[in-house]
Order: sequence, then structure tokens, then C-alpha cells
Amino acid sequence: MIDIRDRVKNKELHSKIVSAEEVAAWIKPDMTIACSGFTASAYPKAVPIALAERMKKEPFTVNIWTGASTGPECDNVLALVHGIKQRLPYQTDSALRKDINDGHVNYLDLHLSESAQLTRTGFLGKIDVALVEAAAITEEGNLIPTTSLGNAASYVQSADIVIVEVNTTQPMELEGMHDVYVPLDPPNRLPIPIVKADDRIGTTYIPCTPDKIKFIVPCDIKDHTRDLTPVDENSKKMAAFTLDFLRAEIKAGRMPEKLLPLQSGVGNVANAVLAGFVESDMSDLVVYTEVIQDAMLDLIDAGKLGFASGTAFSPSPAGMERFYKDVEKYKKYLLLRPEEISNSPEVVHRLGVIAMNTALEVDIYGNVNSTHVTGTKMMNGIGGSGDFARNAYLTIFYTPSTAKGGKISSVVPMCSHVDHTEHDVDIIISEQGVADLRGLEPRSRALEIINKCSHPDYRPILLDYYERALAATKKSNTPHLLHEALSFHTRFIETGDMRP
Ligand code: COA
Repeated sequence: MIDIRDRVKNKELHSKIVSAEEVAAWIKPDMTIACSGFTASAYPKAVPIALAERMKKEPFTVNIWTGASTGPECDNVLALVHGIKQRLPYQTDSALRKDINDGHVNYLDLHLSESAQLTRTGFLGKIDVALVEAAAITEEGNLIPTTSLGNAASYVQSADIVIVEVNTTQPMELEGMHDVYVPLDPPNRLPIPIVKADDRIGTTYIPCTPDKIKFIVPCDIKDHTRDLTPVDENSKKMAAFTLDFLRAEIKAGRMPEKLLPLQSGVGNVANAVLAGFVESDMSDLVVYTEVIQDAMLDLIDAGKLGFASGTAFSPSPAGMERFYKDVEKYKKYLLLRPEEISNSPEVVHRLGVIAMNTALEVDIYGNVNSTHVTGTKMMNGIGGSGDFARNAYLTIFYTPSTAKGGKISSVVPMCSHVDHTEHDVDIIISEQGVADLRGLEPRSRALEIINKCSHPDYRPILLDYYERALAATKKSNTPHLLHEALSFHTRFIETGDMRP
């Protein structure tokens, strides 16, 4: 077993250091295990691996609550042995997705900003144990977090029993990069006193006490972050549209020169947009987001980043190496907060965030589906997209105009599932163009979206649908042909192609 005694500063806690297998043997069926972790950052690794090994011989299930998705050493290993009964609030793992869509896992797809409060209220039952990765444990029993905060502080607060994985691959220099603040619950809640992205309002550690800590497990498994995929042509186009659009907003006096704080989802488009900022003439940019990725390091190196606040630091493996080599430099620009704060509707609204997220499909009136393929199969979850979309100063959604080689149109007459309503969406950008929905009533929105964002293969079919709906409803507020509104989806299910 690796020696972690130098990282466990309270000597009385040394007797609680045990192997992951010992902890896995202690876990009971049906327990609710509330874990640290947000993306493939700072999730527990050694215990879930050992637990999955036990489940192979002795099948049973537990409930897993986290900050968001985790790396394969947590979600994947447990899903492969069908070891998860209930999962919240977000995931991206393919084996887990299959278990969810096969009906084996009860998946609660929650707004991330609300997940901590919902679990604190006890409505979902009690947390049996908080399982949290830390870089170190202080003399007082407090936990020094690693590459994400997610819901870890709230889970530790709510749990009577805490198990800590002390991860020796996480450098001690991470200390100081966090701002831990757990709001009081109503009716005692106070305003969250963040008025600038770099405001510090909490502690640099997760508050805990030695008596709560039951076991401490050494772990030397790295965060399993993923390589960046090369930016594709569609994403480059959407990034260029975004920069042109934002420049026009500055020129029109609707945005300051250095813009407003940026939030961007993860994935290809987000990377391309942020890469576009690196090459742009804009500087002193501020980011108030969820996940901090490689592009943030590029912005720092290019001297264009003022500050970035998030809840997870989740770069590619190469980006992580780059960060670890120069933690002290990058740390000055980066701060990690609990997701309840990084995604707080109150703070997002106060700062006037520009929200940039990706949709699976949009409909001709501007409703957005971010989660359900053909309305029934869960992809990942809503994540933080709703927290930002509803409360941002400007809400942009991206989607390539088609998916699966053109067999799917991402612009459809009616979304097969709605995560973000037309009331929350300002701008839609595809590789075809920019639909600016601000100030438009539904009929004008339909023409704007079809003409600017849909693929030329689908544009005539969408226009035909809209015109027939307009005639049939005698120009009602939101024209639809209800018997035909989901025909794109039913055709795809029947023929494998949305085109007639
Ligand atoms: N119907 C069916 N499948 C579709 C589709 C549609 N309308 N649109 C896209 N897809 C498929 C793609 O073909 C691709 O499939 P593949 O993995 O088999 O290649 C997959 O969905 C992902 O699409 P992609 O275009 O690569 O986009 P992405 O990786 O950016 O993911 C979302 C898009 C919507 C799934 C993703 O952004 C998400 O989960 N969003 C919700 C959470 C969120 O917004 N988080 C950030 C908030 S802070």
C-alpha cells in the first residue's frame, strides 16, 4: 500500500488508513454513496474499482450520487457489473447510458445547481456515506480538494460517515485553488456575495471533522481525462459565427469591449469557440463556467484571460501535464467552486453570463432538446445547460444542422423532448448561420431558424411544413400540424432517415 501518512496531517487519523478492498467489503447493498467528482476529475477511483470486483462475485446494487459525470474508474466499472440502482445528477458513460436506457438504472437527470440542495433536503433519502477524493487531510480533519468540487462539500456536510481517497497523483500545489461555500437552506439563505468572477467567499478546504472520517484509502490512479478531438469544419464555422456575432454586439453597444463572463459547455463546438477567442483580438476575458478545459490554459498563455471560475478542471492528459508543470502560474487565474455556486442562477444572472451550450435538436420555434434522442433515449443529461440558459444575459445554443451523415435534421418541426423552452433561447447557431430570435414572435422565429440554421436538404421540407401549418391554423400564434409535428422522428425510426 502506498504511504500517504505525509498527506494525512492528523496523526490520530493514521489508524483509519485501509485498503480499497477493505472499504468495498464494508459497503452494504442499497447504500447511497455520495461521491466527489465532476467530469473525469476528482472522482473516487480505488473504492469503486474494488467495489465492482466484489460485485462480480456477489451481485448487488448501490445508489451513486456525484457532482456530474465521472471517469471510467467510477461509472464505467460499476455499470459494467450492473452495480448501480439509482444515479444522479448527470452522466456521460456509454455502459451506464445503456443500463439507463435498458431500464436497469433509475436515473435522476437534474439541474446541477439544484442537485446539492435536493439531496440536502433529505427528499431523496439519506446519504449513507460520502466518498470523496482529496489531495490531503489537514490537522483539523478538513479535506484539501483536487481537480473538481462538484457536490463534494455538500455531501460531506450531509453525511455522518465520510470515506476519503487520498490521491497521491494530485499535487499539493492544488491547495488554494478552491473556494468552498455551501449556502444555508431556506428560510435562512443569504445572498451569495459574488459580484465578480474572481470573488472569494468561502474556504480553501472542504470542512470536515476527524470523527466523521471512517476510512482513508490511498489511491495513485490519475484522473482519466480524455484527449481533445481535432476541431472539425462545422465547429470552426460555428466558432467564427460566434465571434462575428459578439463583435457586432459590442459595436451595437450591447456588450462591453471585453465582453461579459463566458460560459461554455464541453465538446467540439465549445473547444472551437474558445480556440477562436485565443486567436481573436479580444483580451482580458472573464469566464464563469462549469468546466475549465485546455483552451483556458491557451487563453492564459496568450495573455487574454482575466480570470476563470468553474467547478471542474478537466483538460486533456496533455493539458493536465502542462498545468501540473506550472500550477503556481495557472492557479492565479483559476478558481474552483461547488457546482451550486458555479451554476448558481443568482450569480449567473448578476454577472450577466454569455451562455454557450450544444443542443441535440432545436425546433422551428426555438425549443431545445439537449438530452433525449428521438424523445425517448437518454444521451447524457441536462447538466448545467438549464442553469445557464435560463439565467444568462445572452443564451446561445449550437447544433450542426444535421447528424448521422445527414440522416437526421437537427432542426425539426417540434422537438421530441424539450429541455430549454423558446422563452430561454436567444440565439441558435449551426454551420449554416446564426438565427437571432430576440424580439421575434413565434412565426418570425420559425422563418429565422429555418432559413438561417437548417440544412439545405431539409429547408424546403421545413418551409413546406410551416406554410401548411400556418394555413391550417389560420395564422395562429404558434402554427403546428399536430398529427405531423413529430413526423421527422417517426420517419427516422421507420426508415433510418428523416428525409422522405
Ligand atoms: N438525434 C440523434 N443523435 C444526435 C442528434 C440528434 N438530433 N444530434 C447529435 N446526435 C449524436 C451525434 O451524431 C453524436 O453521436 P456519436 O457520439 O455516435 O457520434 C452525438 O449525438 C454527440 O453529438 P455531437 O455533435 O458530437 O455533439 P456533442 O459531443 O457536443 O454533444 C450533446 C451534444 C447535446 C449530447 C451534449 O452537448 C450534451 O450532453 N449536452 C447537455 C449537457 C450540457 O449542455 N452540458 C454543458 C452545460 S454547462
